[in-house]
Amino acid sequence: MKTVVITGSARGLGFEMAKLFKKNNFNVVISDLKLENVQKAKSELDTIESESKVSCTTCNVTNSEDIAALIKFAVDEYKSIDIWINNAGVNQPEKAIWELTEDEINMVLDVDLKGTIMASRLVMQEMEKNHSGAIYNIEGYGSNDAKMLGLSIYGTSKRAVTYFTEALAKESEERNTGVIIGRLSPGIMITDFIKTALGDKEKINLSEKTKKVYNILGDYPDVVANFLVNGMINNDKNDAKIEWLTNRKAAWRFMTAGFNKRDFFNDDTKMLNK
Ligand SMILES: NC(=O)c1ccc[n+]([C@@H]2O[C@H](COP(=O)([O-])OP(=O)(O)OC[C@H]3O[C@@H](n4cnc5c(N)ncnc54)[C@H](O)[C@@H]3O)[C@@H](O)[C@H]2O)c1
Repeated sequence: MKTVVITGSARGLGFEMAKLFKKNNFNVVISDLKLENVQKAKSELDTIESESKVSCTTCNVTNSEDIAALIKFAVDEYKSIDIWINNAGVNQPEKAIWELTEDEINMVLDVDLKGTIMASRLVMQEMEKNHSGAIYNIEGYGSNDAKMLGLSIYGTSKRAVTYFTEALAKESEERNTGVIIGRLSPGIMITDFIKTALGDKEKINLSEKTKKVYNILGDYPDVVANFLVNGMINNDKNDAKIEWLTNRKAAWRFMTAGFNKRDFFNDDTKMLNK
């Protein structure tokens, strides 16, 4: 039975991917900042029928000791790790670069960029021993060089995550580690992420213009997770990019927006209004 480890998986995309891996009979290790949140998520995952197991623990990806402990936790429990997903992430406050404090900038870079780099480094050391495994890093706004006021430090991180992941894939190939490296591109998801900055420390007030764009291009995280998890399960190539919102899909969404009205911000059934 295969094992997947996902960082920042008590909610949002990470949690939705965990559900789907469980349905696909993967042992799943979820991790996040707060024990009560991962335990709550685990109890929901335990209700999904499958032959595999779910384990949970805390891990702050800005702390290398936590990352090393998460790797050990997963290996002790399930012997080896087949897929590791660096999913943990924080949004930035909607401010221009010079309006952000040094602490705010550090937090975004520490979680979104350094967390991904440090975890990839330690997981590579583990997977190289077995000459197998896959690491996936998450792209985001800025990965494709887009720029927008209020997203520049987040975008700097995600652009660097893209470069870093491509470089890691190249090095993995050159050293013949047997480990494949890939990028997950989730587009825009209607999660807590879009309305909070710095891991819920600050609220983001979405303008009507932004909501309009999210209603056209956005999707709930279960929809995106379904696409990404299938992509990972079926991927055996190094340097793969598994992309949900392609340019073609985005253009189609804008073209058909008039016939396909969606309003995530007044949907009482889903998380944004809770
Ligand atoms: N929501 C979007 O529109 C969107 C778009 C593109 C990419 N992404 C990326 O997708 C990933 C998941 O985003 P989401 O929308 O599910 O967000 P989310 O806010 O719902 O979930 C993020 C999770 O990461 C955890 N986290 C934050 N800091 C952490 C830390 N230091 N250590 C460990 N865990 C930490 C949070 O507690 C939370 O559970 C992120 O990497 C994000 O940048 C999101």
